[in-house]
Amino acid sequence: MHIDIISVVPELMQSAFAHSIMKRAQEKGLLTVACHNLRDYTTYRHAQVDDYQFGGGAGMVLMPEPLANAIEHLKEQKTFDAIIYMTPDGPTFNQKMANTLSLKKNLLIICGHYKGIDERIRSLYVTHEISIGDYVLSGGELAATVVVDAIGRLIPGVLNDETSALTDSFQDNLLAPAVYTRPKVFQGLEVPEVLLNGDHKKIEQWRAQNALERTQERRPDLLNE
Ligand code: ADE
Repeated sequence: MHIDIISVVPELMQSAFAHSIMKRAQEKGLLTVACHNLRDYTTYRHAQVDDYQFGGGAGMVLMPEPLANAIEHLKEQKTFDAIIYMTPDGPTFNQKMANTLSLKKNLLIICGHYKGIDERIRSLYVTHEISIGDYVLSGGELAATVVVDAIGRLIPGVLNDETSALTDSFQDNLLAPAVYTRPKVFQGLEVPEVLLNGDHKKIEQWRAQNALERTQERRPDLLNE
């Protein structure tokens, strides 16, 4: 998979993609991420990319021409399966969306900043909009980082057996069961006996039950979806 990201502060995202599983995905050649600085696509003086909003009101808006220049330039090089705009007024991101997007080949993500982007870019180019939750960030960069991480780890081949995504929370509309490692007793608390006896069938049953109980207790809404 290849992901292009357009942003006014690409530096905000680069370190997130340079470590851990995102790094491994890129080293394995399964994922490439290219962050593009919107200022490289403006023809305005002083590399201007934003302006006051028509009608007045606080906050700057990213102008349409630099964004269109950047999008057109990238579209000349590849066909995008989705052009995604990160915005708090989009549908809320979830594991199902991550699963679907992880099977795509080329994604383009547009990060807004300040008050957002000119509406005409949304009408003309954007095919999907994503919010990562009901709160407003300073820009789409951190949200894009979240989405790329969630998608990247699902690309077939990125995770090995030990880190398999199949047992993650939300994969079956269930939260993941509790996990334990050494030591067997910690500050007087013992690891459940069933996990220690090597009976894989019993372990699976315990995990399924624990996942269900946790979901009922913490996120009953998931069970009704
Ligand atoms: N940009 C600003 N806030 C955001 C959010 N909550 N989700 C996605 N993009 C955003």
